[in-house]
Amino acid sequence: MKPRTLTLLDLCCCAGGASRGYADAGFEVTGVDITDRPRYPYRFVQTDAIEYVRQHGHRYDLIHASWPCQHDAAITRGTNQHLRDTYPDLLGPGREAMLATGRPYVIETPAARPDVILCGTQFGLPILRHRRFEVHGWTPMAPPHTPHRGRVRGWRHGQYHEGDYLAVYGKGGGKATVPEMQAALGIDWTDVHEELTEAIPPVYTAFLGEQAAVQLLAGAAP
Ligand SMILES: C[S@@+](CC[C@H](N)C(=O)[O-])C[C@H]1O[C@@H](n2cnc3c(N)ncnc32)[C@H](O)[C@@H]1O
Repeated sequence: MKPRTLTLLDLCCCAGGASRGYADAGFEVTGVDITDRPRYPYRFVQTDAIEYVRQHGHRYDLIHASWPCQHDAAITRGTNQHLRDTYPDLLGPGREAMLATGRPYVIETPAARPDVILCGTQFGLPILRHRRFEVHGWTPMAPPHTPHRGRVRGWRHGQYHEGDYLAVYGKGGGKATVPEMQAALGIDWTDVHEELTEAIPPVYTAFLGEQAAVQLLAGAAP
């Protein structure tokens, strides 16, 4: 018998880096973002993510949310501390709304509980994009971190370094170009710098999604 198709709700989906990984793992994906994302490759709803998950979240097999990170990003905790209160902190209300659905979920944001931390090196990518994943209602494998082999390419303290890794954020100073970002992340359907800067490499969520799907189909998750 063919297994049923599982559904995945991707909150704050941006251009769909995370979505692509879940789609690759076999989920039928719906993305929600407050900003129109015309390059998003799956079913898309432009609205507030908390409102949407409150109303519709219970209909999905698995929910993912990348709650906006500016409030808890390292740069806002450091250099830009004065701006911290200007960024909304959606993690608390977002988590509450996700819990209320009764569905299993994955939260990805800098202040998420680090049940799993993934890095590009674990997947052979030339990037050190560490991302924390908080997981509820299913049990992921937490692979050990792979030691970094060398430097990130670019200028630091007046000196240019060749490197094994690319900086896939910001511009200039040896940071990755848009084509380099696309190749490094495994994303070819957007060339918008901001969307690439924000994206989760699809291999991260394919890794999580494949495990979640096995557990959901086996009835181990609610
Ligand atoms: C870090 S990005 C998500 C990146 C995405 N997970 C990926 O892998 O490509 C955060 C997104 O949250 C969206 N966003 C911010 N506040 C929102 C809200 N209240 N409801 C829905 N989306 C929101 C932003 O427009 C942005 O696209």
